[in-house]
Amino acid sequence: MHSSNSYIAEDYKFSNQTIKEMKINSFNFYKKIKERRSIRDFNKTKIDIEIIKNAILSAGSAPNGANLQPWHFVIIKDQDIKKKIRIAAEKEERTFYEYKAPKEWLDALKPLGTDENKKFIENAPYLIAVFEKKYSISKNKKIKNYYVKESVGIATGILITCLHFCGLAMLTHTPSPMTFLNKILNRPINEKPFVLLIVGYPKKNTKVPKFAKKKKNFNEISSIF
Ligand SMILES: Cc1cc2nc3c(=O)[nH]c(=O)nc-3n(C[C@H](O)[C@H](O)[C@H](O)COP(=O)(O)O)c2cc1C
Repeated sequence: MHSSNSYIAEDYKFSNQTIKEMKINSFNFYKKIKERRSIRDFNKTKIDIEIIKNAILSAGSAPNGANLQPWHFVIIKDQDIKKKIRIAAEKEERTFYEYKAPKEWLDALKPLGTDENKKFIENAPYLIAVFEKKYSISKNKKIKNYYVKESVGIATGILITCLHFCGLAMLTHTPSPMTFLNKILNRPINEKPFVLLIVGYPKKNTKVPKFAKKKKNFNEISSIF
């Protein structure tokens, strides 16, 4: 039942798969997505921007609160801007590692081997700054957005998944705070930096942290009723 007179329906194109196809597809998807790792060493190999644009369009297709699409993606390929971002990020990270981070947090980060040096920001061919729109502005009026974090989180998940499927490597980076991104990228105050994605190819023989605990298994992350 739809009582609102602004509701207009259109046909939905649903593509049916057989159970067999569904099983194969879900398994193949899992096999592919579990290869994704966060990479912290990138080489400078160039990437066609078309791939990045398609990934952003994919992210923009995400389900979101009231279809207000409360996100903005900035693609950064300019070397001078990358340098500015690296300098600002390293400044925040130095404060974080030296003063701000509680011991518990530093202990949790130890297995990752990370520190305040963020060379990857300048080396990677692309950065994608994802912004969440706390509210939107139209004709000088504030428009409330709904479920912003959830929506932008889902969109970012699709972005990462698409880039991984295109054969690219990435790091989800969150120097804290990230407000310097508004200044450098000229974004308005209603937008809050969500994550900075570093995108490219891993350096030859790149290492990733060997986790004492691998990804949790099905029974550890789920339950069935
Ligand atoms: C919201 C978020 C923020 C993150 N921030 C950072 C970061 O600032 N620096 C970093 O080196 N890794 C960061 N990571 C990467 C995580 O450390 C990484 O995803 C986690 O250790 C699991 O490893 P995997 O991605 O290789 O599976 C972040 C990940 C997420 C989802």
